[in-house]
Parts: sequence; C-alpha cells; structure tokens
Amino acid sequence: MSDKREKLSSKRNESFLGGGEKRIESQHTKGKLTARERIDLLLDENSFHEIGSFVTHRSSDFGMQNQKMLGDGVVTGYGKIEGRLVYLFSQDFTVFGGSLSETHAEKICKIMEMALKNGAPVIGLNDSGGARIQEGVVSLGGYADIFYRNVQASGVIPQISAIMGPCAGGAVYSPALTDFISMVENTSYMFVTGPNVVKTVTNEDVSSEDLGGASVHGTKSGVAHFTEPNEVLALKNIRKLLSYMPQNCEEMAPSIPYEIANESREKLMNIVPENPNQPYDIKEVIENVVDDQSFFEVHKNYAENIVVGFARLAGRSIGIVANQPANLAGVLDVHSSQKGARFVRFCDAFNIPLLVFEDVPGFLPGTDQEWNAIITNGAKLLYAFSEATVPRITVITRKAYGGAYDVMNSKHIGADMNFAWPTAEIAVMGAKGAAEIIFKKDIKESSDPALAWQEKEKEYSDIFANPYRAAERGFVDEVIFPEETRERLISAFEMLENKVVNNPRKKHGNIPL
Ligand code: HXC
Repeated sequence: MSDKREKLSSKRNESFLGGGEKRIESQHTKGKLTARERIDLLLDENSFHEIGSFVTHRSSDFGMQNQKMLGDGVVTGYGKIEGRLVYLFSQDFTVFGGSLSETHAEKICKIMEMALKNGAPVIGLNDSGGARIQEGVVSLGGYADIFYRNVQASGVIPQISAIMGPCAGGAVYSPALTDFISMVENTSYMFVTGPNVVKTVTNEDVSSEDLGGASVHGTKSGVAHFTEPNEVLALKNIRKLLSYMPQNCEEMAPSIPYEIANESREKLMNIVPENPNQPYDIKEVIENVVDDQSFFEVHKNYAENIVVGFARLAGRSIGIVANQPANLAGVLDVHSSQKGARFVRFCDAFNIPLLVFEDVPGFLPGTDQEWNAIITNGAKLLYAFSEATVPRITVITRKAYGGAYDVMNSKHIGADMNFAWPTAEIAVMGAKGAAEIIFKKDIKESSDPALAWQEKEKEYSDIFANPYRAAERGFVDEVIFPEETRERLISAFEMLENKVVNNPRKKHGNIPL
C-alpha cells in the first residue's frame, strides 16, 4: 500500500471504528446494533457505497472544536435491495448520541435529493438524541431542511423509516412524513415530549416505553406501521416491504412470473357462515384469494376492524383493503377510516392496484365517534377511494350497508369492477332495524307485534338482503361463487392493466384532514 493510501485508510478506520470497540460495545450492551451493522443487514451483500464519510461538524462552542468525528454521527449512501437501488442514512448513536448537527442534516438532505433526482426509495435508520444541543438553531434548521425534502419527495419515491433507538421532540416529524414507520420493541421510542416534560406539565408518571414505545405506536396511536421484536427482523421486513413497490411514481411494481393454472379455490365456499351475524376472519378469505404466502399486512395491530396490506395476484403487486367481521363486526370508525385512507393513497401514488373485500355493517354510532369526527374521518376514506386512479376492484362478501356501501370502493365512486358473492346483502341498513322503522305503525297495531316485526324483517330481507337488486342496476357487475373469486380477479386486473383516468386539473385537492 502506498504511504498516501495508508495514511488515508488509517484516518478512515479511526472514524469508522473510532473510539473503537468501546463504542460498538456500548450499542450492543443496549441490545442494539451499530449503524454499519444495520446497513449490512439491510442491503444486498457488498452493495453499500458511502457518501460523505469525511464530513465533520462546524461547531466550536462548548469545546466542540476538539471533538470531531468523521461522518458526524450519520452514515449515508446508496446500495441495493434485491438488486434494486436504494438510498439510505443510518444514525450512529455512538457519536454524540446520533444527534443532528448542521452537517449531519446536510448529509441526509444530500442523499434525499439524490434519491428524488434518480427515482429510488430512501430509507432512514433512526437512532438519535435529537437536535445537537451544542449547535442550537442551526440544528433546528437542519431538521426543517429534512422535513421540507420529505414533503417534496412524498408521492414521488417511497420513503421508509426504521426507529431503532430514541426519536424524540421535533425529530419525530421526519419519520411521520414518510410512508412507513417500523419500530423495534423495547429499544425504540418516539414522542414529541418525553416523560420528564409530561410529568412537569400534566403530573403524569409514565415511562418512555409506555409513552412512545413500539407497542403503543403499533396499537394505540397507529404511528408505527410495523413493530418487530428485534432489529434483524425489522430490517428484513423493510426488504420485503420494498418488494411490493415500484422505485418511484412513474414505474410499476415488479411482478413475479406466474403461469395460470387451476385458480379455483374451494376453501372460499365455506368461510362466510350461514348466520349473517356470525363473525369470520377476512384474512382467511384474503389468504385463499392471493398468491401463496404473499399477503403482507400493514398496521396489523392497529384499528383491526379494517385490514390493509400488500399481496400478489398472479405475480402482480396489489394493495388490499378489507373490512374485518371478526373485529367490531367490521364496522368503520375513526381509526379504521384513517388507516384505510392512508393505505389507499399510498397505493394510488405508486400505481399499485387496489382490491377491496367488503363486509361492513356501517359506521360505528355513538358520542365518542361523533365527537372524534367520524364525519371528517369517514370522509377521508371516501375521498381517498374517489380520487384513486389505479385499477380498483371490490368483492362484497356479505354486508354492504348504508354509507359504508358507498365509501368502500363502490362503482359510484369510480371502482372499475364490483363483484358480489351470493351471500351479499346490499341495503340501507340491516333488515331488523329497517323493518322497525318503516313498518313501525303496522307492528304497533298488530295483535302480535313480535311476530309482525319478524314477518316484516323477513319481507325486507327477502327483497334487499341479496346482491341481485344491485346487480340489476349494474352497481354490481357480476354475482360470482366464492371459489371463482381468484380466477375472476386475476382476469379483471389483467383487463384493467392499461387503465388511464385523468382527474380534473388542479393544484391539489383538499382531503378532509
Ligand atoms: C448532543 C447528545 C444529545 C443531543 C445525547 N447526546 N443526546 N449530544 N445533543 N441531543 C450525547 C450525550 O451527551 C452522551 O455523550 C451520548 O450522546 C449518549 O447519551 P446518553 O445520555 O449517555 O445515552 P442514554 O442514557 O442512552 O440516553 C439517551 C437519551 C438522552 C435519552 C437520548 O441522551 C437524552 O435525553 N438526550 C437529549 C434528548 C433531547 O432532549 N434532545 C433534544 C430534543 S429537542 P457522551 O459524550 O457522554 O457519550 C429536538 C428538537 C428538534 O430534537 C426540533 C426539530 C423541529
């Protein structure tokens, strides 16, 4: 090795391992991997190319001029996942707590700009104590520079965040602006204000984990789309997630070659129970319709009355939105509407066709829902479906009641195909409630009101608790047997492959936020 090269490589080693094994050990003892170990696990072997490894901070206050580390607490660059280009940054907690300095922010902005210019996803591995306290406002400015680029890139390239340590204060807003957030159980947390501030302001005693740990954000707030028991699984999960998406909004997601065979699925015949009030698991339907092992659920433990996720159908990537009769009877409420809307908008932005399974008794009644704006939130889902221009297909498996019939990707709001199983019930409301309202007088005046109610319920049910009224009008395109569903969907999505719809020209719409 030449002298010059030797000198250079010793400088590099100093920065990469700098402070040495002690720094690596400090991460490992916290149950965390180092920034570079994470990159190695995330990317294809030997595919990483670093950018900006010689950057140092410019700060001189508080003796900082004597404490410079090459790279300044973040490793940035590009590499490949399953042979496809990605850009990434990985914060190094062992350098100033991974805190964000002016130059740390510049490095992140640089790769975000490159990702945007070259049309490839950007992944952020977050592990940081937040704004570099020694730097003051330049560090806050650095955050805002990142937020601005997150928004510019939104809908153009997929943006994915993994939270692998602390993520507090305003720092949470960069991940929040990205498309998907994955958190690691027990070693990561996100909050705008930490436990100490909470105690001072509200006198609540709460731990970091209970305030903003993975389980809180995966179940209660919905901030995290994925929670994983450890970092290795979290990184593996990101690799899988990317396999369903295109590189940018101008491309289609990659497909896996598929040969059509016997696509009939007998198992689907027996999933919906005969009793319309008995629950069943819609995931069983999904898994029997899509390609084997291809269903990849998003937001699994949040608002479980709606199921969303990616899958493949005959090798093609699709997004699924499905009411879940096994949870709250599949009713739409504030959280499930938001969850569904956000997923629909992601799929539409990135050309991923949408498949909806519908079994919905309506919107959840009550003061809690009304006071928490079910009107505005239900409208989000309605808006998201209505503006989506990707191929859209609905399968009504059972109930399609009330406003929820309209909202769940009905033909009226632009769905391309609407199939119904013979078990479908498409009506303004359930037969019992309907009979009580419209035959109130007859029931009251009858010598046997209970019997009269039963009879009227049957009368209403005979007319509306089926898919044929809707099919007569063309609101349902075909009534199909459950076992045929997969075959019909494969063919319909293929038929819709070249769909072009142009919404009216506008600056942007005004989704009811
Ligand atoms: C500079 C920081 C730092 C920070 C941590 N360090 N956070 N240095 N700026 N923000 C340094 C520590 O001084 C320490 O240095 C090393 O990183 C490891 O930190 P520890 O405290 O020893 O680690 P740990 O016990 O694991 O605690 C982690 C932590 C804690 C909970 C994150 O460090 C912490 O509370 N940090 C401050 C968090 C914070 O208030 N950030 C500002 C948020 S406001 P040595 O040299 O001892 O190893 C914000 C605004 C953004 O971010 C606004 C955007 C709009």
